[in-house]
Amino acid sequence: MKAKELRKKYLDFFVSKGHSVIGSAPLVPENDPTVLFTTAGMHPLVPFLLGHKHPNGQRLVNFQKCIRTGDIDEVGDPVHLTFFEMLGNWSLGDYFKKDAIEFSFEFLTSPKWLNLPMDKLAVTVFEGDSDAPFDEEAYNHWNRLGFKDNRISKRPKKDNWWGPAGQTGPCGPDTEMFFWTGPENEIPAVFTPDDKRWVEIWNDVFMQYNKTESGTYEPLSQQNVDTGMGVERVTSILQGKKSCYETELFQPLFDKIMELRKISGENLERSKRIIADHLRASTFIIADGVVPGNVDQSYVLRRLIRRSIREGRKLGIDCRFTHLVAEKVVDNYSDVYPELGANSGKIYEALSNEEDMFEKTLEKGIKEFEKLIGKVPPHIAHKVISGKNAFYLYETYGFPLELTEEMAKEKGFSVDKEGFDKAYQKHQELSRQGAEQKFKGGLADNSEMTTNLHTATHLLHESLRRVLGLHVSQKGSNITAERLRFDFSHPEKMTPEQLAKVEILVNEIIKKSIDIKCEETTVEDAKSKGAIGLFVERYGDKVKMYSIGDFSREICGGPHADNTLKLGNFKILKEESSSQGVRRIKAVLTK
Ligand code: ALA
Repeated sequence: MKAKELRKKYLDFFVSKGHSVIGSAPLVPENDPTVLFTTAGMHPLVPFLLGHKHPNGQRLVNFQKCIRTGDIDEVGDPVHLTFFEMLGNWSLGDYFKKDAIEFSFEFLTSPKWLNLPMDKLAVTVFEGDSDAPFDEEAYNHWNRLGFKDNRISKRPKKDNWWGPAGQTGPCGPDTEMFFWTGPENEIPAVFTPDDKRWVEIWNDVFMQYNKTESGTYEPLSQQNVDTGMGVERVTSILQGKKSCYETELFQPLFDKIMELRKISGENLERSKRIIADHLRASTFIIADGVVPGNVDQSYVLRRLIRRSIREGRKLGIDCRFTHLVAEKVVDNYSDVYPELGANSGKIYEALSNEEDMFEKTLEKGIKEFEKLIGKVPPHIAHKVISGKNAFYLYETYGFPLELTEEMAKEKGFSVDKEGFDKAYQKHQELSRQGAEQKFKGGLADNSEMTTNLHTATHLLHESLRRVLGLHVSQKGSNITAERLRFDFSHPEKMTPEQLAKVEILVNEIIKKSIDIKCEETTVEDAKSKGAIGLFVERYGDKVKMYSIGDFSREICGGPHADNTLKLGNFKILKEESSSQGVRRIKAVLTK
């Protein structure tokens, strides 16, 4: 059975039980700031689980696209996925444990539906604790349907409780269904989910509590059912495959990757899986309106794309390739998720731009890496890259520790991992302190903020010239303690991609921790050194020239921050027309 048929059967079955089909909600939650992505089918339904009336009634069914980033480092093994589809049915204050369990049982075992053999199925139920009692009712229903005691395992909250999706909200005990994927003659007499050959395929959650901010569980005004069945996992089980990567959901992606790769090796499988998983997720995320960037969803997206590119390099892929894999995702899913087809151009462009940008950073980073190792005399026996330098590569060039380690190994170096961790933690602490200070309200004193914004204006100006062209020149600047406003010559509205590029470039320079240099010189000298500057004629013979590394040089009265790191994070709020041929950007610095 293909995934397509599974989705259809699921909807048909629950429609036959009086459920209405609702659409898949976007991956970026529309009204919920507590999480970055939709993580489960219940997520968009939270208000209705809390008692609001749903326009489609009390029985609902759908398939929902989801992103979970908690296990991102485990992607690459046969089971973990970043993006997945979840089949779900809901009772909003209608049926409860008895019907939910009977529906699940019928769908799994009836010859009309999935027809899974009973002897390969087992279930878990919640064993009870101080927050909620043992779920005897669920236990008894399974028993009545033919599950003997050795096929029902009682589990604690960490296994058999679901929710809330964020910090607070609806949650409750659940009962989970498992399928035996090992050899037929090895099915254990007593079921325990610790044996990984039992694979969880469905989860029925009985949402009867609301977790409050103080951490207590209050009974909900209505009793709900929320269930979730992973499409990828169940498809692979129905096809007798060992991994969801072996199904039609991934095969076209793998074929493409294999066509592009230049090297074969031991880790081929892992790299292939990471690329396929991450680019599948990225394609869906971009289709829902996110572009790669430095905060929140956009940062997750950036990490997914960059990690795929690195894995691509391990396979020797030496061309821009992310959009080629994305094409396969679009082909594979557009009939079910039309937003992919509708946004395909946007998807390929965002991926390719990010790939170009990462390529440049990587190249610079590799040069820097070579400089670093070049400083170590060849006769030294134990060649080590210090934690500080590894962190520098991480922070400035986006080199994950594992990449530095790989490159170091090739050159006979090891990496001081402990030192890296220390540098990393120190950095986290510093940025936290910075953030705390800022949020104490008014503490970040105005003059410091305006100074930083002034330096940011220089970075913005130069970045605009690099992204849009040298026709960009300053037409006006206005800085308050809250924001900068910068007017510049440019004939048309900037595209979201151009804005993202500018923002990323400014942030990349900030992260490089560059000291800002001020020199007194003549206009002629400054100009000959490529300095840009306004109102040059107004300056006297001597002018101040501010340089930010090799990146920006401007004639300017100052003052400026002494190091770019002081700026924190640069964010563009708005780009609009100022007057004919002049655009205006408003931007802020955050910690
Ligand atoms: N919300 C439940 C889950 O994600 C069904 O497992």
